[in-house]
Amino acid sequence: MANFKDKIVVITGGSDGIGKALVQQFLALGAKVATCGRTKSKLDQLSQEFNSPHLIVFTVDVSKQAECESFISSVVAQWGSIDILINNAGISMRALVKETSIETLKSVMDINFWGTVYCTKKALPFIEQNKGVIVGVSSIAGYRGLPGRSGYSASKYALNGWLEALKTELYGSGTHVMWVCPGFTTSNIRNAALDKNANAQGESPMDEGDMMSSAECATHIIAAIQKRKRSLVLTFTGKRTVFMNKFFPAWADKLVHHFFFKDGKLVK
Ligand SMILES: NC(=O)c1ccc[n+]([C@@H]2O[C@H](COP(=O)([O-])OP(=O)(O)OC[C@H]3O[C@@H](n4cnc5c(N)ncnc54)[C@H](OP(=O)(O)O)[C@@H]3O)[C@@H](O)[C@H]2O)c1
Repeated sequence: MANFKDKIVVITGGSDGIGKALVQQFLALGAKVATCGRTKSKLDQLSQEFNSPHLIVFTVDVSKQAECESFISSVVAQWGSIDILINNAGISMRALVKETSIETLKSVMDINFWGTVYCTKKALPFIEQNKGVIVGVSSIAGYRGLPGRSGYSASKYALNGWLEALKTELYGSGTHVMWVCPGFTTSNIRNAALDKNANAQGESPMDEGDMMSSAECATHIIAAIQKRKRSLVLTFTGKRTVFMNKFFPAWADKLVHHFFFKDGKLVK
């Protein structure tokens, strides 16, 4: 699938951040793109901004099974099939385990893990017919549990495991399954991250200007899809974290704690 022209690409969560950059770049490559998000006004703005007959948008909450199934069915009704599904819609959280409500943990799992399961299961027959690609946008938190992000880490570990099992089931079939793990990337994710009571944080604890851009992240993801890479880990810090955690896990505990805490308080 070296050429994306006229390929039908479904991207969840395409109204902001990495998803929006993926929408823009796939359109520029001549693909037909269907995307979704919860906020209609952001989707309307996206349609206006890109103004393309090759873009269709749907208001969908991926944590709802029926909405995911109807989204995938609507794309197939309109364009006949699906070649690539990118499960990108995601939400983060920031709160210590002892303070975090079960509601926060469940919301994160419902969106990041179950949203991927619902969309993938519904789209799978079409993608298999086309020997296409299924992508999960995971995280470094899918390789290394991060403090303050217990639910987020759990959701991304679950995502990686589920996709790895699917990949193995489809081994040799021609359908490709991969997970991509961005490092810190400038986007709305830390603003939208849930607090201990499942409300949006409304601020980022990090310098958003000092990260990989969403556009660069999307370019790496598209190149990895083109090469059908098994997985992708991005940024120097991200790669170092995954490496350290694999070979020196106890040392990684100390370094990660040091990065996120100051004077015993979670500061990032
Ligand atoms: N940015 C990073 O540093 C980073 C690092 C590692 C991994 N990632 C992963 O990259 C993916 C994209 O994140 P981002 O940084 O681009 O975040 P973002 O800027 O907050 O964008 C998230 C997108 O997903 C949509 N979305 C959120 N919840 C949804 C739901 N329940 N149903 C449908 N759409 C939903 C949002 O639109 P609505 O809010 O309108 O629904 C938005 O379009 C996520 O899976 C995230 O975990 C990001």
